[in-house]
Amino acid sequence: MIYVDYAATTPLDSEAAEVYIQAATEYFGNSSSLHDIGGQAQGLLENCREELASLLGINKKGLYFTSGGSEGNFLAIEALLSSPKKQGNHIITCLAEHSSIHGVLKRLTGYDITYLPFNESGLIDIEQLTRSVTPETVLITIQHVNSEIGTIQPVEQIARLCREQNIHFHSDFVQSFGKIDLRSAAPLMSSFSFSGHKIYGPKGIGAVYIDPCIVWTPFFPGGTHERGLRPGTLNVPGIAAMTMAAQKINVRIDADYQKFLGFRQTFIETLEPIHEWVRIHQADESSQVPAIIGLRLKGIEGQWMMLECNRAGFAISTGSACHIGKLSPARVTQALGLKDKEAKEFIRISFGQSTTIEDVVKLGETIVRIVKEFNSVKLC
Ligand SMILES: Cc1ncc(COP(=O)(O)O)c(C=O)c1O
Repeated sequence: MIYVDYAATTPLDSEAAEVYIQAATEYFGNSSSLHDIGGQAQGLLENCREELASLLGINKKGLYFTSGGSEGNFLAIEALLSSPKKQGNHIITCLAEHSSIHGVLKRLTGYDITYLPFNESGLIDIEQLTRSVTPETVLITIQHVNSEIGTIQPVEQIARLCREQNIHFHSDFVQSFGKIDLRSAAPLMSSFSFSGHKIYGPKGIGAVYIDPCIVWTPFFPGGTHERGLRPGTLNVPGIAAMTMAAQKINVRIDADYQKFLGFRQTFIETLEPIHEWVRIHQADESSQVPAIIGLRLKGIEGQWMMLECNRAGFAISTGSACHIGKLSPARVTQALGLKDKEAKEFIRISFGQSTTIEDVVKLGETIVRIVKEFNSVKLC
């Protein structure tokens, strides 16, 4: 089976797995215990925090470990709203945010929420965002990279706007961490989240950064770990393995970018024989992560296409993994303003470390064959 669903999750890097086992067997102490065994785990934990903070160009005091991106998004938004920069009850977000952002916003009471769409290129319209700001706006939460089509939102520009207007800015960095050098954007955020399993680290581990200047009130009362942000014994082996994975992926960001750009171009060329049936949702090269391709094949349901590709030996996706089993279309289709029928046509292909150019060509040819067969059956 050829796996081309790396935006959903990645396999654990073998060196990260070794680090996990070493940390779990040799640094197994509770990092809060006061004896030396606890102190060793605490030492390892703090080294990881320091290393990750340095990869991101942020103050390590603002970095907290979580169970992943979803929890990071939740805790960040709760923390920011517990300490707004000014009085107000208005929040701006985007229709294409991850379900964890929609989930936390949905449970809030007393807030007006503006949901921005994407333009044709899968980007937020900055002028529309600026016009949406009111004196009541206390929080803007906009993702960095969209998980379904790979478009990159101008988070540095949004962060500057937020600073000028005294508004907190949270960004979901889950799909950008490891794909983009975040050192210039990260320090500008009030908060951001990332996750281990999207970067060849373990599942169930991630982190959130909250600007240390913000004096938040914890969502969970009485917690003593992670300076009160999140209760529970820290998953030091998971953190150590995620740190190893982060170090490795950060070193190869530029090389990966070039490799996946070539793969993307080849894949698109391979689809040339069926070009009239293909619609790729993407931005210009400068605002696009090349490893994630979101597309539609006219008249063909994404769910059916995914099953056909699976039968042919390719693991592709119909969009966000969270929608599996639900039959609801990928969130990005709503943000793009697609009609119901078009939304159901959506599929996502995402490249990763084990993808080869041969896989890319074979996948393209398989899709061409499936589409031609589908259309010849339809024409009979
Ligand atoms: C953009 C984005 N945010 C958040 C998440 C959730 O991360 P996690 O699975 O670590 O909770 C995902 C994972 O699908 C994602 O793609």
